[in-house]
Amino acid sequence: MCGIIGISSNKPVSANIINSLKKLEYRGYDSAGIATLSDGEINEVKSEGRVDNLENNFDLKNLRGNIGIGHVRWATHGVPNSLNAHPHSSSNVSVVHNGIIENSTILKNHLINKGHNFKSQTDTEVIVHLITEHLKTSKLEEAITKTLNQLHGSFALGIVFKDMPDLIVGARRGSPLAVGYGPNENYLGSDSYALKSMTNKITYLDDGEFCIVKKDQVIFFNENGKKVNKKILELSSDEASYDKGDFKHFMAKEIEEQPTTIKTGIKEYIDSVNKEINIFNFPWKIKDINSITLIGCGTAYHSCLMAKYWFEELTNLDINIDIASEFRYRKNRFKKDSLYVFVSQSGETADTYAALDICNKNSMKTCAVVNVIESSIARDSNFVLPIHCGPEIGVASTKAFLGQILVLYMLALKIGSLRNEIEKNKYQEKIKELKALPGLIEKTLLYDNDIQAISNTFNEAKGSMFLGRGYSYPIALEGALKLKELSYIHAEGYPAGEMKHGPLALIEEGMPVVVLAPRDKYYKKTISNMQEVIARGAKVLLITSKSKGEVISENIWETIEVENTNDDLLPFLLTIPLQKLAYYSALKKGYDIDKPRNLAKSVTVE
Ligand code: G6P
Repeated sequence: MCGIIGISSNKPVSANIINSLKKLEYRGYDSAGIATLSDGEINEVKSEGRVDNLENNFDLKNLRGNIGIGHVRWATHGVPNSLNAHPHSSSNVSVVHNGIIENSTILKNHLINKGHNFKSQTDTEVIVHLITEHLKTSKLEEAITKTLNQLHGSFALGIVFKDMPDLIVGARRGSPLAVGYGPNENYLGSDSYALKSMTNKITYLDDGEFCIVKKDQVIFFNENGKKVNKKILELSSDEASYDKGDFKHFMAKEIEEQPTTIKTGIKEYIDSVNKEINIFNFPWKIKDINSITLIGCGTAYHSCLMAKYWFEELTNLDINIDIASEFRYRKNRFKKDSLYVFVSQSGETADTYAALDICNKNSMKTCAVVNVIESSIARDSNFVLPIHCGPEIGVASTKAFLGQILVLYMLALKIGSLRNEIEKNKYQEKIKELKALPGLIEKTLLYDNDIQAISNTFNEAKGSMFLGRGYSYPIALEGALKLKELSYIHAEGYPAGEMKHGPLALIEEGMPVVVLAPRDKYYKKTISNMQEVIARGAKVLLITSKSKGEVISENIWETIEVENTNDDLLPFLLTIPLQKLAYYSALKKGYDIDKPRNLAKSVTVE
């Protein structure tokens, strides 16, 4: 999704802006641009496609100036071309924008009537002209406040002015924005990641705030234009995680990292000596929670669905799950004894944040399960459970999914034990089994060549299905999502028992169907459903768990056997071959694995 960078320095900034834009590439985008100020001019360069195109199409050494803004754009209003790429400029003002201005058409008509000319199809251009207009009669802070008050929707902004060549204005509503501090220079960035190679000293703007960034000073303002003081945070430096190392893609690296990230997650939450799960500083009494609602988007929503099965089994509480974009506009009944859990890798997904905001406004108990602990969702929740996965760069989520379900599983176990729904010895046995999980994941990762060969058949097919029951159903959905995201192959995830109510009509000779049937309590039922698709010509890839030599069924095209473990933990192992299947089929198709078309890592607009 869109990304912003701004630098105010005592030396030329264009090279560092390019470097930082490259750090933002992981978010997914379709055009890029830079504006710098020098010799009383705004110098603007923009290109469709990757940041590399900017470097190839323009001689950036000649893009002079000690102050500038840069942007990667993920198109919302207007096609992805160089004209619609940011920055957008008038003769005096240049703006980069993340988010959507919902009343842009009304504002544009009003501005056209006042004589303003528009060059692009974007909503962003109205901001340029509004500020230009207000600066005719108001000083900077007042012009900014007036402009922001007129905008409906969400935004993070970086703005430079030809007449004020020593400052950048940043502003935020809905979309995240951070300020960074360096030696003789200061920065603006849509996330701390963009700024990390330059500084680990960060201040996050809160909703409604704006700031003026100069090379030696940063001033913050609230939505009324009054100055406010803000804290500077020091972020940990984990630059190594931002490097692909020997891997071809971040996704490949992130898949292989999973034994380590799961081990770290377990270490962070499990007290091995006392065989106990520690959820430190949990702010509520267990008896005050009678229902839990889990909310997320995309893969994070699948984590919520996975958790529903565990929570119901282990805690005997009322469990609801919701897709954030649906939750935020429905009429919800808020109950005092409900806990709302927001699951998000980035902690910045606009819909998930909006759902959290609604819960906060209704004084609900809110808990964030996030990877980025400095994120907006983490900061604005009552309580945070980090997943400790390290930065995830590949747009399609892999290690964060396992990290999310790990933390949710441990939370379910803990609440179940506090509610006396799990016997003490069973609880401790489950903790012991959990500690063996990283080793089992490591073994499952070894199925590499088999999956590479299998992926060919998926690539030749018109479409595919992923089936599972019980604990395997959310994993079927996640497997189908991964294949769609990366290989652009039509893939449907379905509860295996639901096939005969419609989707069976899609099965035709040679259609690849993944059946997830580990040897849990659903095994026999799923195997029967598998027979039904085989009988209609499907080529079945059966993913099951190891057994002692039993022949499962005839006419199965391919079988993968993951390690055996308790039923609760099988979903972790089933996920691995599905991640690899998606990876290899995209690799063979030659697609951009870390940045699939049309998708973004951090979806900061609705
Ligand atoms: C985007 C990403 C997905 C991710 C979803 C939710 O669509 O491409 O991989 O699952 O956003 O993101 P979050 O950061 O909230 O987990």
